[in-house]
Amino acid sequence: MLSRLSTATSAALRRGIATSAQNNAKVAVLGASGGIGQPLSLLLKNSPLVSKLSLYDIAHTPGVAADLSHIETKAKVKGFMGPEQLPECLKGCDIVVIPAGVPRKPGMTRDDLFNTNASIVASLTTGCAKHCPEAMICIISNPVNSTIPITSEVFKKHGVYNPNKIFGVTTLDIVRANTFVAELKADPARVTVPVIGGHAGKTIIPLISQCTPKVEFPQDQLEKLTARIQEAGTEVVQAKAGAGSATLSMAYAGARFVFSLLEAMGGKQGVVECAFVKSDVTESPYFSTPLQLGKKGIEKNLGLGKLSPFEEKMVAAAMSELKASIKKGEEFAKNFK
Ligand SMILES: NC(=O)c1ccc[n+]([C@@H]2O[C@H](COP(=O)([O-])OP(=O)(O)OC[C@H]3O[C@@H](n4cnc5c(N)ncnc54)[C@H](O)[C@@H]3O)[C@@H](O)[C@H]2O)c1
Repeated sequence: MLSRLSTATSAALRRGIATSAQNNAKVAVLGASGGIGQPLSLLLKNSPLVSKLSLYDIAHTPGVAADLSHIETKAKVKGFMGPEQLPECLKGCDIVVIPAGVPRKPGMTRDDLFNTNASIVASLTTGCAKHCPEAMICIISNPVNSTIPITSEVFKKHGVYNPNKIFGVTTLDIVRANTFVAELKADPARVTVPVIGGHAGKTIIPLISQCTPKVEFPQDQLEKLTARIQEAGTEVVQAKAGAGSATLSMAYAGARFVFSLLEAMGGKQGVVECAFVKSDVTESPYFSTPLQLGKKGIEKNLGLGKLSPFEEKMVAAAMSELKASIKKGEEFAKNFK
């Protein structure tokens, strides 16, 4: 099911259209002037599913919004800059996507971003909890393994927590896994690899045994491929040599996730995406697995499926890092004012 539906969603993304989807949505991008924010906003502006696009950042949004507003598609684009304009940006939003915050430089882990990005995410999601508590919240800002627990705690503090509507966007891991498997085996448009766990190094767990179409690799090749998927972000960070991390592929992945959500919110059946969410599937309180999406967010957690022994070992090995990153986020949010 995952394969068929995700393939349909990516096909819709490539065409910039989708059928039977919510096509009147207000979407906000927070961090809209950044390396991810700009191309993500462009993809959203290109979609007939979006009728209002609110672009927020602490800099440059008037220019980005003016530029995008000249594109001949229906979404009305408006720029908002600085915290005093955040409430107006968020009012009435159906989906808020957050790529605000600093990216990695060579030699950094995603956790090294915590000190800067934790407070950016906490303050932006405080705005969401106050001004659009019903919206779907999609967090791109790293470290995702901590920024999702932060968002959940912020929403709890404001008494508006709904775990079915808070998503850590891990779609780029799936996009990369699909691409790398396809390079070795098949047409990328047909490949779907679920990726579970978290979004950092060893916590990124591609389930190649559940790939559709079915693929087989000798163990040494499987290990190399798995390691490449886990370290793909670092591959980009190194190639950009200090100029940031993945932006264009992340914008594609973020748009794919938003379009899937919009399709599901519009009543399309059987839309499935993986995301890092509140979960009781493993002993980690947050975990990414394939999720069936619906009008109100997560409709059903589809769980782990049947894992190979190699994948089971990876899940076990990810637990301590996942739990520590989650705890760090929760502790931070408790003390955040
Ligand atoms: N989830 C993923 O798979 C994934 C992939 C790539 C990057 N990322 C993360 O996405 C984030 C953004 O990356 P980027 O390359 O776009 O960085 P960037 O530096 O190019 O852009 C970040 C933007 O955020 C804005 N910003 C900073 N503080 C803000 C605040 N308080 N309110 C609103 N906007 C604010 C900046 O002005 C800037 O425009 C990073 O944390 C990066 O690690 C996640």
